[in-house]
Amino acid sequence: MKKYHIITYGCQMNEHDSENIAGLLEANDYVCSESSDDADIVVMNTCSVRENADKRFFGVLGQFKKRKQNNRDFILCVCGCMPQQPHIVEKIKKQFSWVDIVFGTQNIGMFPDLIKKRLETGEKQFAIVSNNPEIDEITIKPKRLYKHKALVNIIYGCNNFCTYCVVPYTRGREKSRSLENIVSEITCLAENGVLEVMLLGQNVDSYKDLAGYDFADLLQEVNKISGIKRIRFMTSHPKDISDKMIDCFASCNKLCKTIHLPIQSGSDTILKRMNRHYDVEKYLNIIDKLRKTVPDITISTDIIVGFPGETEEDFQKTLDIVKKVRYDSAFTFIYSPRTGTPASKFENMISEQTAHERFNRLVSLINKISLEKNQRYIDKEYGVMVEGISKNDKNRYTGRTDDFKLVNFTSDLSLDEIEGTIVPVLITGAKTFSLEGRTL
Ligand code: 5AD
Ligand code: SF4
Repeated sequence: MKKYHIITYGCQMNEHDSENIAGLLEANDYVCSESSDDADIVVMNTCSVRENADKRFFGVLGQFKKRKQNNRDFILCVCGCMPQQPHIVEKIKKQFSWVDIVFGTQNIGMFPDLIKKRLETGEKQFAIVSNNPEIDEITIKPKRLYKHKALVNIIYGCNNFCTYCVVPYTRGREKSRSLENIVSEITCLAENGVLEVMLLGQNVDSYKDLAGYDFADLLQEVNKISGIKRIRFMTSHPKDISDKMIDCFASCNKLCKTIHLPIQSGSDTILKRMNRHYDVEKYLNIIDKLRKTVPDITISTDIIVGFPGETEEDFQKTLDIVKKVRYDSAFTFIYSPRTGTPASKFENMISEQTAHERFNRLVSLINKISLEKNQRYIDKEYGVMVEGISKNDKNRYTGRTDDFKLVNFTSDLSLDEIEGTIVPVLITGAKTFSLEGRTL
């Protein structure tokens, strides 16, 4: 039996692509290896959203040179967002000649054929399209990472062209799967024991299938599937989120009380230059509506600091919106110029020192608020879906509340008894990024 190992970088979209790639390899008689050391084929599923991802990727790629020199039969593959950029493919061809197969985000279904051709002809294989109008992955049976929760793509690609972002270039234009296909996939998952689905897309709010169903229609249908207990989704875009969708939080009992709603910046000037198509007022209105519909909804966000031309005043406005919304958590990034994006040509780059200094101020504010928010959970009881043993403490279990708080807790029950079930947990302690508790 030949062994494979997949190294995954980046977002949940990539994580799910890796599940599809694993599914394809297993259908072709490869077995999974925990380490790349004894694998016959290694797949690097790459991310290019920020520059440090590039650096890390080329570093790891370099480490495989010796491996290839010692074993000509070893196959090294690169896929994901990196090879969607022509300058990266050129660099791989010129400087990393030991890479055997390169395929794009919209060519995953071709992977078994590419391996076959590589083995038969000994020639390197490249398959990258920039915008495949067909949805490629639909016929693939993924090898799911988790037993009780599943990632389900509902819309591929992105049409928004935020000026800092490389994703529209690496994932092509938006393509929504049909509501019917999504519902049948989730029904099948539920029949196989899945309790929680995460509906995935770069912008789930612009979901629209050929029959005209929108994201709210989809949520209503998924809510009807028996066996499914929790529905989550990401990512939402403030410019496209609709009242009809917000109403789903009231009408769909399985929809989790949580939303990830990237703000990116608290300054209208910067939002305009980012091409985000909303201003702070519109964003705060959405937050208001969400909180009126679900008073205790948890809200997380993405924020970029140091965007070209960001003044101290602009940055203060970002701190202001964080104080107003009081996010449960936030992913914070220092702006990183990406080749081919409009912002990479903008003037007035912010110095590294200023960007870092702003980043640190922002993170300490966010962390302070996160901790305060988490402290409100203490002495209350929550249903926690148990995901397994805690990574940092073998004596504790780990899981998530309906509103996506991470809970590490003790219990007299065995793993077999509670894994994949929703158990009542009393919260006894709060940290910045997690809660602590015990089963009742
Ligand atoms: N620089 C910094 N952060 C970025 N993001 C996307 N592109 C960039 C970039 N060039 C962030 C955004 C987005 C998240 C997934 O990554 O905040 O929402
Ligand atoms: Fe990138 Fe903007 Fe699309 Fe999100 S919505 S993937 S930030 S271009």
